[in-house]
Amino acid sequence: MSRKARRSTVRSRSYEAIAEYYDAEYESNQILDNDVPFMLQHLPKRSQSVLELCCGTGRAAIPIAQSGHRVVGVDYDANLLEIARRKRDSVGIEPRQLDLVRGNVLTLKLGKTFDFAFLIFNTFLNFTTADEQDQLLDAVVAHLKPRGRFWIDIFYPDLTILAAQHHAHFDSATFYVPSLDRSVHRVTEIERSADRPQVQRVTFHYTWASTDGRINREKIEFDMTWMFPRELERLLHRHGFFIEQMYGDYDGSAVTPESSRIIVLVKKG
Ligand SMILES: C[S@@+](CC[C@H](N)C(=O)[O-])C[C@H]1O[C@@H](n2cnc3c(N)ncnc32)[C@H](O)[C@@H]1O
Repeated sequence: MSRKARRSTVRSRSYEAIAEYYDAEYESNQILDNDVPFMLQHLPKRSQSVLELCCGTGRAAIPIAQSGHRVVGVDYDANLLEIARRKRDSVGIEPRQLDLVRGNVLTLKLGKTFDFAFLIFNTFLNFTTADEQDQLLDAVVAHLKPRGRFWIDIFYPDLTILAAQHHAHFDSATFYVPSLDRSVHRVTEIERSADRPQVQRVTFHYTWASTDGRINREKIEFDMTWMFPRELERLLHRHGFFIEQMYGDYDGSAVTPESSRIIVLVKKG
């Protein structure tokens, strides 16, 4: 039976950020100081055509376009894309250097192919079913030139998190959102799914105080999966990719059980 015929109707609960919070929320995240510079080291110096899947507010797409590559960023969230466009325009990057397109990466059909595609900041793990992962990788293959390269960056599973069914207060952070003149506190809750294998429900709980002292609460919920290096390697291989590099961190070290990241550069066969 073909992969298409086997596709199930189970879908991940998708990540939908509170757009105004996104950049402020992640500003002090150390991963984000290092992921784009490290990826840029692996891009050829001569200008490449680059596709960013799930580009959000252009955090990565903008500096990559600024370093001379022609970038297309795709995201399904119109509010995040609007922020990305504003940021792009404010640094004087032309739309022909960075095109921002609204679309679902699972069904993407841009009608062109690229030298390089990338999906970073754990986003591959938002696609929690085998069907979605296949759909996404099919879309990547369809948008790469022959011998095009794909860069994917996910976290190495943390066994202490996986061991517990429920974490109520994980990774708390406070951040200031200039556009709203608001300080927001975020607490993360993680619950392992009882009925879906290898799936966690992640909830970000946000609280902030109005000027009259009222406490406001917001939350977003989404699904995440986890993968070990061999699992990712075999999946990429099954989609016709050959591993060129695999790193366990942005210092270029190899993947070990103590690694924090799984960063893979693959080539389309
Ligand atoms: C964690 S954010 C990463 C954003 C950006 N790549 C970065 O590193 O800052 C994940 C992004 O994936 C987008 N996204 C999730 N599912 C998507 C889908 N099926 N199609 C397009 N975008 C999607 C969300 O809107 C969000 O912008």
